[in-house]
Amino acid sequence: MNLQTIVDTNQDFLQGTPTVYFSPGRVNLIGEYIDFLGGSVFPSAITLGTYAFVTKRTDNEIHFLSENFKEFGKKVVTLEDLSYLKSDNWTNYCKGMFDALIKRGTKIDHGLNILIFGTLPNSSGLSSSASLEVLIGTVIKDIYGSDVEMFEMVQIAQKVENNFIGVNCGIMDQFSVGMSKKDTAILLNTNSLEYQYIPLILGEYTLVIAHTNKKRALAESKYNERRSECDTGLEILQSKGIEIDNLCSLTIEQYEENKKQIKNLTIRNRVEHAVYENIRTLEAVEALKRGNLVLMGSLMNQSHDSLRDLYEVSCRELDILVDYFRMNGAIGARMTGAGFGGCAIALVPTKDVDAVIQKVRKGYLDKIGYNADFYPVSTSDGTKKIEL
Ligand code: GLA
Repeated sequence: MNLQTIVDTNQDFLQGTPTVYFSPGRVNLIGEYIDFLGGSVFPSAITLGTYAFVTKRTDNEIHFLSENFKEFGKKVVTLEDLSYLKSDNWTNYCKGMFDALIKRGTKIDHGLNILIFGTLPNSSGLSSSASLEVLIGTVIKDIYGSDVEMFEMVQIAQKVENNFIGVNCGIMDQFSVGMSKKDTAILLNTNSLEYQYIPLILGEYTLVIAHTNKKRALAESKYNERRSECDTGLEILQSKGIEIDNLCSLTIEQYEENKKQIKNLTIRNRVEHAVYENIRTLEAVEALKRGNLVLMGSLMNQSHDSLRDLYEVSCRELDILVDYFRMNGAIGARMTGAGFGGCAIALVPTKDVDAVIQKVRKGYLDKIGYNADFYPVSTSDGTKKIEL
């Protein structure tokens, strides 16, 4: 939908010309499920994302409306009550950001009308919640003034997700959404928060997103389960005298020497995924820098296989997409994000993109019985104010 049309058709709500902000979604190229284990991750922000159209109010109320969830209606929030309420649905992400930034010292002297419009497919695992959190943080900073830099803002957004929303995620999504630069991916060390922008030069290849259209059921409970399995793995190794603070500081040699200490095979598999995925990520970044896309693709394949077999966060729909991509000429294909549905990504020769998508689409429909959706990736800057 055209952005100006959204402004025009929502004048009853906006009552004037809005200031407009955009916040991207993200794909993770490699480095999955290790952003809470001190590992390195390699995400890139994408041009699908979330827009905010904002006008000032003279009272002290914040009015929210989403173009995507019109049936939910308008939600009015007063600054005196920013507590989490399940029935407040998507506006909880916004309330959490207001709450956090007010507690950090932002002074709010008037209300706002905030209209949201998202282009990320629902439940796609492309970080719509992080996109919304950093978006609202950016609106608050811009309108009320604050010295919060983006580096701090993304950490505040992660805390909102952890403590206000109750999802125990790592830092990757918020960091990628807020800190990205177009045409690059971020190599982020989630232990030190050191980061580098790596030009995403894909040569003869195009990165394609494929959405399973499967709702990410169970994702939250399984996510927390994986986290605690990894904690158990770390505790076992530490109790055997291995001096590490996080699993991703283990070298492959250290892991191989000590893996027998972890008797429970499930726990051992989770740890094995973490240790190898961290090394694969660093290797993939080196491969990309050298222009060795075939090697990068093969590391993406290994990442998926490990998430499927050792970490067990894939699902039939994702595996089928990945298999069809590989059978039809992709040099690398993997699930991206938290899995259990959501999206896969594939590195496909640019000249064959249409043909490959057609074959994957057909194969998926035959096996699963409904369609997958496909989007070529274009990268984006992090959250910012835009002109219409
Ligand atoms: C979700 C979380 C991230 C990360 C990924 C898996 O997207 O929000 O912090 O853990 O899953 O890599």
